[in-house]
Amino acid sequence: MAQTVKIQPDIQFIRELREAGGDSLKACYQCATCSVACPISPQSNPYPRKEMVWAQWGLKDRLLSDPDVWLCYNCGGCSDLCPRGAKPGDLMAALRNMAYKRLVTPSIIGEWMSSPKYLPILVAIPMVIFAIFWMIMASVNFHGNFTGGMFPTGQIVYGKIFYGDYIIDPFFMATLGFTLFTFYRGVKKLIAEIGPKGATTILGPKKAWYICLLEVLFGEIMTHSKFTECGDDSEKNSRKIGHMSLFYAFVALAIVTGCVATGHWIGRIPFLSMLYLDTPLPMWHPLKILANVGLVLMLVGLSYLTIRRVGLNPKKQKSNYYDWYLIGVIWFVGLTGMFSQLFRLADWVAPAYIVYYFHLVSVFMLFAYLPWSKLGHLVYRTAALTYVRYIGR
Ligand code: HEM
Ligand code: SF4
Ligand code: SF4
Repeated sequence: MAQTVKIQPDIQFIRELREAGGDSLKACYQCATCSVACPISPQSNPYPRKEMVWAQWGLKDRLLSDPDVWLCYNCGGCSDLCPRGAKPGDLMAALRNMAYKRLVTPSIIGEWMSSPKYLPILVAIPMVIFAIFWMIMASVNFHGNFTGGMFPTGQIVYGKIFYGDYIIDPFFMATLGFTLFTFYRGVKKLIAEIGPKGATTILGPKKAWYICLLEVLFGEIMTHSKFTECGDDSEKNSRKIGHMSLFYAFVALAIVTGCVATGHWIGRIPFLSMLYLDTPLPMWHPLKILANVGLVLMLVGLSYLTIRRVGLNPKKQKSNYYDWYLIGVIWFVGLTGMFSQLFRLADWVAPAYIVYYFHLVSVFMLFAYLPWSKLGHLVYRTAALTYVRYIGR
């Protein structure tokens, strides 16, 4: 017997989606060329045509719980071939942007991250915090380091002003804790929303979730295999080289930071004192070399991704504020990191401390707001890819 299905379009949602980058969705006439063109879309229930249809109908609930949004690699191949210029790739990106905004609280941060008009607030928060730290250290004789004012004389050691042990380290540890806890809530919500959608019957024993995670990490993320599969031939290499360089830059810098922090604290235990590390590390130290390799990889990756983005044809694929915020902040982190080192080696006191101050500001902007920024994909994509593998999509 025929059943009546009641559809309730959410007009406000369509408006928000268009603002977040899905502005061309009305042009779609549902021919499905995009789903056929997408090289990584599965055969059953392929994307992105169905998302275009749901978006036109304002079917918010379906779209918000759709795991496929996180499987799309934003290569733009589908948009290139769309006969109506409807940019389905941009719609998938817009849906991810909306997810960054709504998945976790406090939602005000999501609001601030969604538009350049709030950028001054996002910059002002760390500027004020680190300025207060600076003022305190410039005015008190803390741990006997006081050397008279804003720019301590003698060898440039950033810890003289941005004191690691009891100010900067605990502050960044708290920030990291906040970010990780926020991601934990975000992933929990994401998985709950997806639920069993797209699941297939798995013959034989079901794989444990951590096996699926390892397969995703080693089979897809570390090799960047999907970057090779999708996109047009002329630019997929630059995307892959750009993303891979940046990814391994972060891996290298995470290893360095982890080792330095561990050595710094563990090395205080008397029988482990040979592990003690303090900054600045000498230039020949293996961790310093790894840090500089990471820095070079970061600048190379950023150059590739920026050149590619600047060269995009806006009729096929548009860049939005989420794209530029992320690339911009990582540039800021990389360049201020590089100049902090160069000015310190050149013994250029005032510029060195000022640039280092901005380095801390940009690092905070990258990590404290991470779950609401486009870099949130680092966790949400990994979680969705693992989960769909687990349920057999
Ligand atoms: C440290 C880790 C990571 C960093 C620093 C990073 C950085 C970036 C950056 C800057 C972009 C923007 C490129 C552009 O605007 O053209 C990007 C895009 C992308 N990343 Fe990552 N990423 C990381 C981890 C991951 C992981 C784990 C995945 C999992 C599959 C992933 C998949 C992607 C995809 C598919 C895109 C293109 C989609 C888009 O631009 O919306 N990334 N990444
Ligand atoms: S987005 Fe374009 S290619 Fe895809 S179904 Fe609509 S009109 Fe066809
Ligand atoms: S942007 Fe690329 S990965 Fe995403 S749906 Fe289109 S063709 Fe597929």
